[in-house]
Parts: sequence; C-alpha cells; structure tokens
Amino acid sequence: MRLREDTVNMYKLFFRLVFHRMDPEQAHHLAFRWIRLAARVPVLRTFVAALLAPRHEELRTEAFGLRMHGPFGLAAGFDKNAVAVDGMSMLGFDHVEIGTVTGEPQPGNPKQRLFRLVPDRALINRMGFNNEGSAAVARRLAERTPVFRTVVGVNIGKTKVVPEDEAAADYVKSTERLAAHADYLVVNVSSPNTPGLRNLQATDSLRPLLTAVREAADRTVTTRRVPLLVKIAPDLADEDVDAVADLAVELGLDGIIATNTTIAREGLGLTSDAALVQETGGLSGAPLKARSLEVLRRLYARVGDRITLVGVGGVENAEDAWQRILAGATLVQGYSAFIYEGPFWGRAIHKGLAARLRTSPYATLADAVGADVRKKTA
Ligand SMILES: Cc1cc2nc3c(=O)[nH]c(=O)nc-3n(C[C@H](O)[C@H](O)[C@H](O)COP(=O)(O)O)c2cc1C
Repeated sequence: MRLREDTVNMYKLFFRLVFHRMDPEQAHHLAFRWIRLAARVPVLRTFVAALLAPRHEELRTEAFGLRMHGPFGLAAGFDKNAVAVDGMSMLGFDHVEIGTVTGEPQPGNPKQRLFRLVPDRALINRMGFNNEGSAAVARRLAERTPVFRTVVGVNIGKTKVVPEDEAAADYVKSTERLAAHADYLVVNVSSPNTPGLRNLQATDSLRPLLTAVREAADRTVTTRRVPLLVKIAPDLADEDVDAVADLAVELGLDGIIATNTTIAREGLGLTSDAALVQETGGLSGAPLKARSLEVLRRLYARVGDRITLVGVGGVENAEDAWQRILAGATLVQGYSAFIYEGPFWGRAIHKGLAARLRTSPYATLADAVGADVRKKTA
C-alpha cells in the first residue's frame, strides 16, 4: 500500500498537537487504548496492519531459533502487562517484549514519573516497574488468542520489597509462572529505578541468578528450550561489559540486550529546563544513542556470533537500526522514538532497512550482522 509523505507528516503534527500537550503518562494510556481498540476490530486491524506493517521478505530474521518477519521489535516497558501484543504487532513491530514483570504486583513510584525532553528527543522515567505481577500477566498470556503471528519476549525483574539477597527466588517465581508463555525470557538487571537492582549485574550475583532462572525455565518447560537473555545498563564500565559477555558465554545464554536507560545526563543540550534534565530516573532516546552503540560494538567484538545481541537505546530511524546491525545486533528494539515519531515509525524503519540491505554488499541481513566490527578486527 502506498503512503504519501504528507500523510505521515499530518499524523506527526496530530501527535504533536494532541499528545505532547498532555501529561506523558496519560498520553501513553490514551494512545494505548486506541491501539488496543483498533486491534480488536477485525476490518480495522487488517487495514492498519496492511498500511503500517507491510512485510519485506528480505528482512526475515531468525534469532535464538525463533523466526520473525523482521529484526525490529518493541523494547520492554511499553506493554508492561501484555495487554496490547497484537496491537503493537499491527503497528509493525516484529517482536514485542512485554514487562518488566515482577514476582508480585506493585504500583511503581509516585506520579509524575515520566518526563519528555522534547528538544533532545529524549525521555526520563522513574516508573519503578509498575505492573500487575507475574501471576496476573501469566494468566493473561495463557488466555490470549493471538491474531497476528508475533514473537513475544517476557522481561522479568525484581519486586521492589524483596531484598537483594532474595532476588533470585523472586525471578524464579516469575520464571515458573511465565516461561511457558514466553518465546524468549529476559532477566532485567539494569533498570535504574529499583534500588539495588543494577548491583545484580556484578558477575558474583549474576552467575547464581542466571543459573537459577535457567534451571527454573528448564524445569517448567520441558517441551522446548526457552531462550534466555540478560539486559544490561549502558552505565557499566567497559571491563564490566566484558565480564557480563564472558559470563553469558560461560553459561550458554542465548542473548544480551544492550542497553537499558542511563543515569548519565550526557548528550543533552537542547532542553533549557535544567530541573527537568535533573529529574531522577533513566534517560532514553537520542542522547543514549552513542553509548548504546558503543556497548553493542564492544559486546560483539567479545562474543562474535556465539551469542545473539539485541541493540536498543536511541534508535530513531532506519539508519540507526542499520548501524546497530552492522555493529553486531541481530535484533533491534526501540521505545522512546515511537513516542516522537508515532504509528508510521515501524513502517519507515522496515522500508529504510530493506533499501539499505538492497544497496549494501550483503546478500542477507544475517550477513550484515557485525560486519563493521569484523572489518575493524580483520
Ligand atoms: C517509560 C519507559 C519505561 C521503561 N520500562 C522498562 C522496563 O520495564 N523494563 C526494561 O527492561 N526496560 C524498560 N525501559 C527501557 C527500554 O526498554 C529501552 O531499553 C530504553 O528506553 C532505551 O531505548 P530507547 O532509547 O529506544 O527508548 C523503559 C523505557 C521507558 C522510556
């Protein structure tokens, strides 16, 4: 289906005029409601999917044994409770990572906890894993009748009130409830909004945690091996990135997601409101681009093709997605730019990626993965 450039711009204007004047979290809920509604009406969802999620054969992707229509997915945090998997698939995301889901339900931090830094195309959030908890989300996933064939990743994290030294049991509880419904499972140890969570990235803590989750997944799901990934922070020192990479190889992990939001405030400069910039929480969007890409490159240089890498953080357009692939990402995810770009974002990324692949020296997308890093080390 053809789409005129001015249609895209009109929608962007609409999104700017309506959503950007609202409280960011309210705007999220409103947009979310529309997406879910549209996905429930058969004629409408077929039309929207044809418009926004046209398939490009050459972008077909395989990652940790799962086949996907393309490499581009929705990062965790947008659909925390798995209420809009079909809706997000309808908008062109090739996989949807739900969560973070914690062992127990929790309300998250007091509002306001989400902030837009529009001139910098960034967000700051301190949501604090507001979610319905692993039992409720598992029930929802079990009862779901999928409309679109999509890969569903399940991202799990620690319940806030659970002490750090009991974290593994909380992750195991979530794993036991959710693994059967997960195409892949992600251990999130990198959100800055749960006190102490990021300490779990230290290999001494991470090794027993990942081992316990792996064992729980294998115990719970015996008919297949649920792929297990870990999601890391961009604020790790380079040696710690290497240490996580080595541990992932040692434990036979399936993937690493790089990266979560940052507590740093680098790369900003256009937002004049100094208090806004200093809001507590994780920064995402354009300012995160350089560091996320750097961490990804470092990981690929360390693990090569032994572990699947997922690139996320500051991906705004097809060129960014392409750069992540060349840097070693088999899958690419995004969140913040979706807020700024609106519903045509996925379509534009796919179209641009297909065009780049066509004019590149690579026959397939898989051939392009890590090509830049391989060139440098050759
Ligand atoms: C409002 C908000 C909530 C998020 N919640 C989660 C979460 O629950 N779990 C998680 O692993 N990442 C979460 N993230 C991080 C994103 O998944 C992603 O790693 C990060 O935003 C960088 O990508 P981006 O620059 O494309 O947004 C959240 C991000 C935002 C903006």
